[in-house]
Amino acid sequence: MTAFNFDHKVAVVTGSGTGIGLEIAKQLVQGGASVVINDIDKQKADAAMQLIQSIGRCEAVIGDSSDLNCIRSLVDTAVASFGHLDIVVANSGITTFGKFLEYDQKEFKKLVDVNLQGSFFLAQEGAKRMIKTNSGGRILFMSSVTGHQAHPNLSAYGMTKAALEMLAKSLAVELAEYKITVNAVAPGATLTERTKQEDPNYQEVWENLIPVGDIATPADIANAALFLLSEESRQITGQSIIVDGGWTSYSPAPGYLKKEK
Ligand SMILES: NC(=O)c1ccc[n+]([C@@H]2O[C@H](COP(=O)([O-])OP(=O)(O)OC[C@H]3O[C@@H](n4cnc5c(N)ncnc54)[C@H](O)[C@@H]3O)[C@@H](O)[C@H]2O)c1
Repeated sequence: MTAFNFDHKVAVVTGSGTGIGLEIAKQLVQGGASVVINDIDKQKADAAMQLIQSIGRCEAVIGDSSDLNCIRSLVDTAVASFGHLDIVVANSGITTFGKFLEYDQKEFKKLVDVNLQGSFFLAQEGAKRMIKTNSGGRILFMSSVTGHQAHPNLSAYGMTKAALEMLAKSLAVELAEYKITVNAVAPGATLTERTKQEDPNYQEVWENLIPVGDIATPADIANAALFLLSEESRQITGQSIIVDGGWTSYSPAPGYLKKEK
């Protein structure tokens, strides 16, 4: 059971073999939706599909979500397997750290391909399909707090996330006449397999900076996502919900947080 009902809805979620995307896909299926998941890693995609199929209807498309053929295949699979398409979640995103003065062009291109090109064209393909059936729809981009505030060594990544939020606003206006809403969720520090792997002390390090005293779980992010994907959010479009335990609400100042020494 989830807070929202997704019976008869069909969704595509990219980068959903693990982490936040997997949680969103799982919750959508728990709410009654049929979901096409995607991952570049076959093992992760297969494991996620098996897990979700134990709850409900799920298919997987293995491939790079920045590739236009993969994007078309995701949308085609949704329609072929489940009849139509109502929801797309452009969740796939890579985080490459690097100092601005040393940032490599190859890394930059890969980052922009996955975080922007993949999200832009998934939204485009998804919207075209939704418009064909004239039944409205939901598009959601996965942003980040780094799209709102500067973070060390994340200039390129933060730029892509800020761009996604502008894209949500632009598409909110362009797609409004088709009853398609377009929003974003901006997670703060979230404990996923990747963040744990990048830093075994991830939780301890980041919870000290977060006013509510805890980092987010993928379920915290999915809860916000599911609201924006639900029928109940029909008046909300062009917006971004920051899910960060208050992290971006304060300005760094000595002694601001009680736990600071
Ligand atoms: N985890 C966080 O703390 C955090 C914070 C802010 C924003 N985000 C954003 O949330 C989204 C999900 O983050 P996460 O930490 O769950 O992701 P992640 O790095 O754990 O990746 C999730 C899955 O995406 C797959 N993937 C990577 N590149 C792909 C590609 N090109 N095509 C298809 N699949 C691909 C990976 O194999 C992995 O299974 C991303 O857009 C990320 O930028 C995450």
